[in-house]
Amino acid sequence: MKKRILVTGGTGFIGSHTSVELIESGYDVVIVDNLSNSNIEVLNGIEEITHVRPAFEQVDCTDMPALELVFQKYQPIDGIIHFAASKAVGESVKEPLKYYRNNTVSTINLLELMPKYGVKAFIFSSSCTVYGQPDSDNLPVRETSPRKDAESPYGNTKKIDEDIVTDFCNSGAPIQAILLRYFNPIGAHPTAIIGELPNGVPANLIPYLTQTAIGIRECLSVFGDDYDTPDGSCIRDYIYVVDLAKAHVAAVERILEGKSSEKVDIFNIGTGNGVSVLELIHTFERCTGVKLNYKIAGRRAGDIEKVWGNVDKANQVLGWKATHTLEDALSSAWKWQLKLREDGIM
Ligand code: WQD
Repeated sequence: MKKRILVTGGTGFIGSHTSVELIESGYDVVIVDNLSNSNIEVLNGIEEITHVRPAFEQVDCTDMPALELVFQKYQPIDGIIHFAASKAVGESVKEPLKYYRNNTVSTINLLELMPKYGVKAFIFSSSCTVYGQPDSDNLPVRETSPRKDAESPYGNTKKIDEDIVTDFCNSGAPIQAILLRYFNPIGAHPTAIIGELPNGVPANLIPYLTQTAIGIRECLSVFGDDYDTPDGSCIRDYIYVVDLAKAHVAAVERILEGKSSEKVDIFNIGTGNGVSVLELIHTFERCTGVKLNYKIAGRRAGDIEKVWGNVDKANQVLGWKATHTLEDALSSAWKWQLKLREDGIM
C-alpha cells in the first residue's frame, strides 16, 4: 500500500517540485491549495513529468470544516508537508494581520486534525529568515544558532509557526515533526515543465534576473554594493529547487521509517556556500552566455547583509546533500524563462 502525503501549497513553486519528487519516490500525493498564488495548470505539469495526476482539492487551510472534509475523504494520510503560506516579505509589512491569520491558523488547523485522523508526520516549510542577521562569528549558521527578531511579519510567522509545531509535539501529541529551514530556493525542473512563476513584478532576485535577461524587464537593480562583503553586495545560500524538494522526501521518510526518535527536529537545507548578488550575476552570464543589463541601486529595506547555512546535520543525519551547482540552478532558471516565452506565457 503506497503511503499517502498531503501537500499543502502543492501547486506553488517548491510544493510542485516536491510533489514530483514524492510521486517519483512512490508516494501517493494529495495536493491542497487555495490557488491564491499559483495556477491549477501546474497539475498538468506534474502529470506530464510523472505520468501521475495527483489528487487535488481547492481548499484554504484556514477553513477548518473544508480542511477536515479533505482528511475524511483521503484517510489514511501518513504525512503532511505544509507549504501553504503567504510569503511576500514586503506585502507582510503592509498587511500583517493577513499574514498572522493565514500562516498560523492554517498550521494550527492541520496539527489539530492530525491525531484525530492518525497522521504521524508533519514536515514544516520554515526559513533561514528565522536567523535574522547572524553575527559574523555565527556564519555559516547552524540549527543551534540563535533565532533573531524577524525583519518582517512574514519572518515572524515562520518563528511563531516553529514554536506552535514544537509546543504541540512536546505536549504529548502522537506525531513527529521536522522543521526544514530553507535558504534561497532557485531554478526550475530540468524539463522546464514546471518552475517559479510569480504573479506580477517579481520581488525575488532570480525571476527578476531572468525576466531582465529575456527583455521583459529593462534593467535589474542590485540593491546595494556597500555592504561589508568582498564585493559589497549581499550574500545568500542559493539552493536548487529540485535538491530542496528531495530534502522533503528524505524528511518524510525519516519519520515514516522510524529513523528518528525526536519529537521535533530541525535541519538547515542549503548548499553551505555563500554567494553574492554580483557573483551570481556573473555566474549567470558565464553559464548562459547572456549579457545582463543591471545597475547598482540603493539598499532594500529589511535586507539581511549575509546569511548562509552550515548543512552538516542535513548531510550526516538526514542523509541529504545538495548535488547541483549554482550553474545548474541558473541554467535551469534560464531554460524555464525561455520555455515561458516559447509557450507564450510571458
Ligand atoms: C536575494 C538577494 C536582495 C531582487 C527570500 C524570500 C524569503 C525567504 C528567504 C523562503 C538580496 C537581492 C533581489 C532584486 C536584488 N524564502 N536582490 N535585486 O530577500 O533573501 O528572501 O529567501 O522562505 O521568503 O523572500 O531573497 O531573492 O528577494 O533577494 O539585488 O531585484 O538579491 O537584496 O540580497 P531574500 P531575494
